[in-house]
Formats: sequence, structure tokens, C-alpha cells
Amino acid sequence: MQLKAARILLTGASGGLGNALARELAEAGAALLLTGRDPGALSRIDLPTGCNYQMLQADLTHAGDIASTVTAARDFGVNILINNAGVAHFGLLSEQDWCDVERILNTNLAAPIRLTQALLPWLTQQPEAAVVNIGSAFGSIPFAGFTAYSAAKAGLRGFSQALRRELADSTVRVIHVAPRAIDTPINPPAVRALNHALGSATDAPQIVARRIAATLAADVDEIHIGFPERLFAWLNGTAPGLVDRGLRGKLATIRQHAGKA
Ligand SMILES: NC(=O)c1ccc[n+]([C@@H]2O[C@H](COP(=O)([O-])OP(=O)(O)OC[C@H]3O[C@@H](n4cnc5c(N)ncnc54)[C@H](OP(=O)(O)O)[C@@H]3O)[C@@H](O)[C@H]2O)c1
Repeated sequence: MQLKAARILLTGASGGLGNALARELAEAGAALLLTGRDPGALSRIDLPTGCNYQMLQADLTHAGDIASTVTAARDFGVNILINNAGVAHFGLLSEQDWCDVERILNTNLAAPIRLTQALLPWLTQQPEAAVVNIGSAFGSIPFAGFTAYSAAKAGLRGFSQALRRELADSTVRVIHVAPRAIDTPINPPAVRALNHALGSATDAPQIVARRIAATLAADVDEIHIGFPERLFAWLNGTAPGLVDRGLRGKLATIRQHAGKA
């Protein structure tokens, strides 16, 4: 896909990965429609000079904001939707408020499905189009302390694969990206401490953004970023009992850090 001619709707553009992605795509010549909830954070997005962009404030858990985002996307002539907005909440399920669980499911799963569905009649009319869903390694390696987030990201992975199969004879590609931990504000100190204690690697958002841009330009629709996470994702699909046993040994550490979240 030619990024130079692309017109991209990027959700969560004001976040850590979103900002890096906006910059990477703008440098490749794409025109950008950037969304987020916080107008102050949107205005601080670091973009190369002279790039073609518009900003739109939208809370994607609100139906009215989905509708206004779709109108803006059609007016902008969008041919690529990147569902990047997301939230996480580290903690044991038994200690979480339902409103946090609901917010995670709504933001990471219901909102991207709803936005995609609303934009699809427009995207299918484009000579070349794509939907890119930013999932997580936890969507394939569901993790203790991240039950709702893992469920939402596994759901997003399933949605991506089903939609890809549904649109197989259309001009719309459906790409699913599963990064491992990234150094962004979504991870509070307790998660950073947990990753450190478990020896889990963390990528810079610029590295992940570069991989996503390269995936769009290439003919690949399913990527896991990071090794050994890619291997564990495969293992979890093949022999989940082995992963259960491996993660059981980490449970005490996860509980200890969840207590400080
Ligand atoms: N960082 C990681 O370790 C990691 C690993 C794997 C996957 N991911 C995924 O990468 C994506 C980007 O996350 P990030 O790391 O860049 O996190 P981040 O820095 O916290 O950014 C999250 C972005 O999502 C937006 N957002 C949250 N709730 C929203 C809502 N209801 N409506 C509209 N926008 C909303 C935020 O906008 P406002 O700031 O304006 O609220 C912000 O722009 C997410 O899907 C995340 O699950 C992250």
C-alpha cells in the first residue's frame, strides 16, 4: 500500500504510540485525521512541519462521537482506519470495580468494532483501503492481572480475523498488530515494576510505529512484535496448558505488584 497517497484516521493519536505513529506516517507522506479525547494532548502531538493533518476531539465510547468521527472521516477522504485508542487497568479481577472492567471492554473492543462497522460502507467504496487494529501480545497470551484487557484484546484479534475473512473479496485489508509492552503512559509505575521484575522487554513507541508503517506498506496482515512473545503466542494457541504452568510460577510476583497498583 502506498502511504504517500494514504488518508488515515488514527484514533488515540494523542497517546504514546499514537504520537509516534502519527509522526512516522506523516513522514511517509500520509495525510492524517487525528483523534483523542483531550484537546490539550491533541494540540501537543509532535508532527513534522508541513504535514497534512486535521484534529478531532472524540470519545469513542459515545455513539454520537463515533457518528461525528465517521462524518469527518468521509469529508477527509479517509482510506485507512487505525483503531489505536485503548485503555488498561492492572489489577486482580476480584479487586476491580465493574466500571473499570466495562471501560476496558468498551474502549478496546466495542468502540473499534463500532467505528469500523460505521465506516465500512465508505471504505469498501475506496479503490484501496485498510483497517488496522492495534491489539496486544496479551490478546494471544492472556495474562493474570490483565483479565479484562486480555479478553478485550483477544476479542479484537478474533474480530480482525473474522472481518478479514468477511472482506476477502473486497478492496479492504484487515491488519492486526500485537505489540508487546511499549514505553507509554498506559503503563503506570506498578506495571513498569512488574515488567522489570518479570524481565519482560519493553519497546520504544518509535520502533513499534516503524513496524506498523512497514506492515501497511507490505503485504502482511497479522504481526506479533517481539520475541519470545511471538513464540509464546503460538505456544498458547497450541498447548495452553504449558503456558498455564509457566505463568503459575509468576503469579506471586504478579499479585505482589497488583497490590501496589
Ligand atoms: N503501551 C503498551 O505497553 C501497549 C502494549 C500493547 C498494545 N498497546 C496498545 O497500543 C494502543 C495505544 O496505547 P498507548 O500505549 O499509546 O497508550 P496511551 O499513551 O495511554 O494512549 C492511549 C490513547 O487512547 C486514547 N483514548 C483512551 N480512551 C479513549 C476513548 N474513550 N475515546 C477516544 N480515545 C481514547 C487516549 O486519548 P486521551 O489521552 O485524549 O484520553 C490516548 O490518545 C492501545 O490500543 C494499547 O492497548 C499498548
